[in-house]
Amino acid sequence: SLTTVHTVADLRATVASWRAEGLRVALVPTMGALHDGHISLTKLALEHADRVIVSIFVNPTQFSPDEDFGAYPRTLPDDQKLLDGAGVALCFAPSVDEMYPDGFATKVHVDGGMTNVLCGAARPGHFDGVAQIVTKLLLQALPDCAIFGQKDYQQLMVIRRFSTDLNIPVEIIGAKILREKDGLAMSSRNRYLTPDERAIAPTLNRVLASITAAAASGADIGPLLAKGREDILSAGFDPIDYLEIRDAQTLEPVTQTVTKPARVFVAARLGKARLIDNHAIEPA
Ligand code: PAJ
Repeated sequence: SLTTVHTVADLRATVASWRAEGLRVALVPTMGALHDGHISLTKLALEHADRVIVSIFVNPTQFSPDEDFGAYPRTLPDDQKLLDGAGVALCFAPSVDEMYPDGFATKVHVDGGMTNVLCGAARPGHFDGVAQIVTKLLLQALPDCAIFGQKDYQQLMVIRRFSTDLNIPVEIIGAKILREKDGLAMSSRNRYLTPDERAIAPTLNRVLASITAAAASGADIGPLLAKGREDILSAGFDPIDYLEIRDAQTLEPVTQTVTKPARVFVAARLGKARLIDNHAIEPA
């Protein structure tokens, strides 16, 4: 059954006891307010390891001052029930002081075209905060592998980059996006939606699906994206932070037509929520 610890020392003691038994360990970092999308990651983790750790930490350094750090849902008792039912062995739920004690001064910055586009352009400093906290979590737990969702595809690519660059000895595994029946990508931030907004929200997935189908069969992407923007705005999203097609590996922009594996990315605001989604485009 699930054990919860709040300190790095207790996390390390538990992992050390598993290592002494020769067990494989997987880490699934989260900010809590868990949903089935997170649980799909823990299931994948159990295919790769004997023991799964889920960290729950709403990381202040990845939010800008005008964002929802204070409002972000914190639901630890519910989260613990879900994790227990999913066969997760350990929940690591540190305090802000445990992660950033007095005197903390170290930054982790991934430079270049992977971090200054898409969410990196819309949310300055966001990926510095993600890189900082994920580096700490990986080094604190030192698991064999760590699982991240393609829901946050750019985040996954940034994490692969610094883990490679810093020789962090953890295998980074990507997991596919889990969606509601109507196609909306599951997200903790879907809780911010009113019933009317919730009915509008699946538009994002529908628009991405039609762009993906047309782009994969060689359509000119300029008009496709223009039509997609219109459909998203007329559904009631405002503003659109971005709707773009980029290379699946480098995140460099794709203009004209898709000839290599690419991805279409969207971020748009609907009421109080900023929703993101993306689809893979595999050219025919
Ligand atoms: P959070 O938004 O809680 O997401 C935790 C993990 O769950 C991420 O890897 C995310 O991509 C994945 N995830 C969320 N919704 C998903 C869905 N519908 N399908 C598949 N995977 C999904 O991402 C973060 O937290 C933070 O930035 C974190 C990495 C924990 C660093 O603070």
